[in-house]
Amino acid sequence: MSTKQTAEEPTKQVEALREEIRHHEHLYYVLDAPEITDAQYDALMNRLKKLEQDHPELVTPDSPTQRVGGKPREGFPKVAHSRPMLSLDNAYNDEELRAWEQRVRGALAASETVRYVCELKLDGLSMALQYGAGAHGSSQLERGLTRGNGTIGEDVTTNVRTIRSVPLSVAATKLKTAKMPQSFEVRGEVVLPQAAFVKMNEERVAAGMTAAANPRNAAAGTIRTLEPNIVAQRRLDFYAYLLLRDGEPLLAHHSESLKALDEAGFRVNKYWRVTKNIDEVLKFIADAEPMRETLGYEIDGVVIKVDSMAQQRRLGFTGKAPRWAIAYKFAARAGITRLEDVLFQVGRTGKLTPVAALAPVFIGGTTVTRATLHNADEIERLGVKIGDYVQVERGGDVIPKIVEVVEDKEHPRGHGKIVFPEKCPRCGTALVREEGEVDWRCVNASCPARLAEELRHFASRGVMNIEGLGEALVGQLLGHSLIEISAAAVDGDEETTAEAPTREALVHSIADIYELNKDDLLKLERIGEKSADSLLEQIERSKKAPLNRVLLGLGIRFVGERTAQLLASHFGSMDAIMEASAEELEAVNEVGPKVAEAIVEFFAAKRNRELVERLRKAGLTFTAEKKVTSSELEGLTFVLTGTLPNLTREEAKERIEAAGGKVSGSVSKKTSYVVAGEEAGSKLDKAQSLGVKVLDEAGLLEMLGR
Ligand code: IVH
Repeated sequence: MSTKQTAEEPTKQVEALREEIRHHEHLYYVLDAPEITDAQYDALMNRLKKLEQDHPELVTPDSPTQRVGGKPREGFPKVAHSRPMLSLDNAYNDEELRAWEQRVRGALAASETVRYVCELKLDGLSMALQYGAGAHGSSQLERGLTRGNGTIGEDVTTNVRTIRSVPLSVAATKLKTAKMPQSFEVRGEVVLPQAAFVKMNEERVAAGMTAAANPRNAAAGTIRTLEPNIVAQRRLDFYAYLLLRDGEPLLAHHSESLKALDEAGFRVNKYWRVTKNIDEVLKFIADAEPMRETLGYEIDGVVIKVDSMAQQRRLGFTGKAPRWAIAYKFAARAGITRLEDVLFQVGRTGKLTPVAALAPVFIGGTTVTRATLHNADEIERLGVKIGDYVQVERGGDVIPKIVEVVEDKEHPRGHGKIVFPEKCPRCGTALVREEGEVDWRCVNASCPARLAEELRHFASRGVMNIEGLGEALVGQLLGHSLIEISAAAVDGDEETTAEAPTREALVHSIADIYELNKDDLLKLERIGEKSADSLLEQIERSKKAPLNRVLLGLGIRFVGERTAQLLASHFGSMDAIMEASAEELEAVNEVGPKVAEAIVEFFAAKRNRELVERLRKAGLTFTAEKKVTSSELEGLTFVLTGTLPNLTREEAKERIEAAGGKVSGSVSKKTSYVVAGEEAGSKLDKAQSLGVKVLDEAGLLEMLGR
């Protein structure tokens, strides 16, 4: 057998697989038109991973497996832009737009035709992607830079690589079709789709963190996270809108750049058009504005660019913006209305949130009647009183918020002082505000208001996924439907608006839902045979939810989806987690002292231990699946030697086996990796003499995807 042939085989296989995966990624992430199922995609990816593990020398930085690379260094290095990343001047109405057009025409010869490209103005953060020569005439992603101060950006390449719509490489054939050189720069917008934003905030809140204010902030925060795994989970998107080479436009028309970018495999927003005059531009704007409600990502206007690069060059720049482009900004989705009352909600952790009850106002396609007031500090900052007129803003799926109090002739001030309750509006327990915290909390763990939130969380889609057990039913099960109390009532002016329990509660603890029977359910309003059956079925099905979901469902402060997953796979069972000391918990990657303490505290409470015991009796999943759930290490053999800094020998073995790998006691040519810790002896020497790869604990954990 010739050695050449054996060396060539995997190379070819790897290349073919990568090409196939890239093709499907493009179909899926850029064109939104997948041709294979997720499982088929995963299978391709696993084959590639396995091949690359067997032949580490074939791994290249642009391989689809390398989207989550190593960890970025501390902070992000600063890098100068090839040409400044400028901002845009704004037009807020038709007159301002026409005035801009006049300036453009005035700067060019009267006889010239000017065409304008209209694009959506995506509300994210701008990003510059630099590509350089890759293998076989391809281009590969070399660097991703944030805008920074416009002249110098931050190198966030590791995180940018995790964005699926960013091609890690562009094949020579594509470059040829798109008439692009190997080295070029693409500028565009990184956005967080609204659905991903909502999910991210749910997770943050579940983990006791504050919610991000809007998708733009969330995207900006995410791209600057020092944890590429988190970035990868967030599902950011990248839309390309400029193509440069050496800081200069590459093609003669902007519209050609957009086409070329599309052909090269970049995601270009499909709503763009070349227009011949300003009336056509205004038509585009009028069509674009209502799309805000349905696009699934945020836009805040339309960008209008002169199509001809020759004309762009002659128009040039003012200090900070090009003269050849302008942003037509949509009116903020805001409105003025009257604050009629302030209601207080008690959340799952007992946190009291003031909610503004507003006179109905139509903002950006929906009628708004509620807005969040966050906490007592925010009320003070706004200086708001009941009866005031307030400016309310709404962005995407974000809960509307009060921006300021409006005070003029038409809008006289109100007089109703907002009094924060001293006792929990639901159970009457005195509220507590811990030192250094802004929130007041009800510390009664059995408070029915807390229970309602706990139940809602437990049953929600990302947790136990009990379909049908939503807000309305939770209210019914608890025997009431309103968990709010008005500030006016607190003030003593009015009767309480919190509905008195309408009937006896069927549920007093999360565990009670596992004891519900059909007769119980049929007693409730709007529940018929069919929905009762399906709900019971859903409850039964939830018993199969894996340990990490059960753990997440308990609602331990700071334990979000990811932490729950890490805990479940580290400890393997509910009992092990319950019995773990703070130190043992902190041994889990990413679990710090605050989280560890919250977990210990949770399981120290008698009420919580009782809940866990009842859930165990109900038959919920209390052990992590031992069966091979991932095949990342399939076909690989490991030898452990020496003392690892965090994992015991047994733990390391378990983790390797759980990922499909094998652990053997002696080193041979067939050994894939030797994992060496302190005082590794002869096995390490042998590995070195045989040329077997050596990993440390961090290297192993990285392979395990932790
Ligand atoms: S072109 C020379 N096109 O808006 C400036 N920008 O307010 C070239 N933006 O910093 C920018 N969508 O982050 C351009 N289709 C689009 C855009 C867009 C969003 C952002 C971009 C820019 C900001 C200016």
